[in-house]
Amino acid sequence: MRQNYALSFLGLTILPHGAVSLEFNVTAVSAQNGSSILQCWQMDKPFETSSQPGTTGTSLLMLSDVSNLTYGIIPPNSDGGWHNAPKVQWVVYTSGLAYITLPDDTETSVMVSGGEFGIIFAADTTDVSEKGHRTQYPGMTETTALEIPTSDGKIPEHRLLHTGPCSTSEITGIREPSL
Ligand SMILES: *[C@@H]1O[C@H](CO)[C@@H](O)[C@H](O)[C@H]1NC(C)=O
Ligand SMILES: *[C@@H]1O[C@H](CO)[C@@H](O)[C@H](O)[C@H]1NC(C)=O
Ligand SMILES: *[C@@H]1O[C@H](CO)[C@@H](O)[C@H](O)[C@H]1NC(C)=O
Repeated sequence: MRQNYALSFLGLTILPHGAVSLEFNVTAVSAQNGSSILQCWQMDKPFETSSQPGTTGTSLLMLSDVSNLTYGIIPPNSDGGWHNAPKVQWVVYTSGLAYITLPDDTETSVMVSGGEFGIIFAADTTDVSEKGHRTQYPGMTETTALEIPTSDGKIPEHRLLHTGPCSTSEITGIREPSL
């Protein structure tokens, strides 16, 4: 488990020697000038290390307030077609594969594997993106996903790391360096 604790004292954050504040980065389907784009976002709030019984030592991050949860089971080797994000929402792929492409930028795409790092943020709703994006599910098994809209359609505080999806190293930084 990564040591990721910090002492806060008089508004100063003191990181123990060798400890790094770990930030959560997430691939976002966002929009610019009416077109859907992929971006890598870094959440402003870093992970905290839990001291609660049951999760002691766990890296925790309260991502946002959310409103409800939909569980989807998507057939293997299927095509969701072009669509906009129905809501500003987290999408957590728990199994399978999701391949996201864009109508106005055929160079950029992302393959999301369900599981440990299967979380994305979708914000290309019809009010900001004309054509949306396409999601295909090329897996040999079902793709399962949780759709979790944020409260009031709010986008959590973040900064743009770069355009294009987050790279593997930008999402697996929670692992021990040896893994
Ligand atoms: C935004 O879209 C309009 C119309 O398609 C285009 O004329 C303009 O150059 C675009 N601006 C940027 C910054 O891409
Ligand atoms: C779920 O939350 C979204 C966003 O707040 C809302 O638009 C939608 O109506 C909700 N769905 C249900 C079934 O309550
Ligand atoms: C997020 O990106 C930063 C680089 O900006 C990296 O140091 C960090 O490990 C990444 N976080 C995760 C959880 O991979």
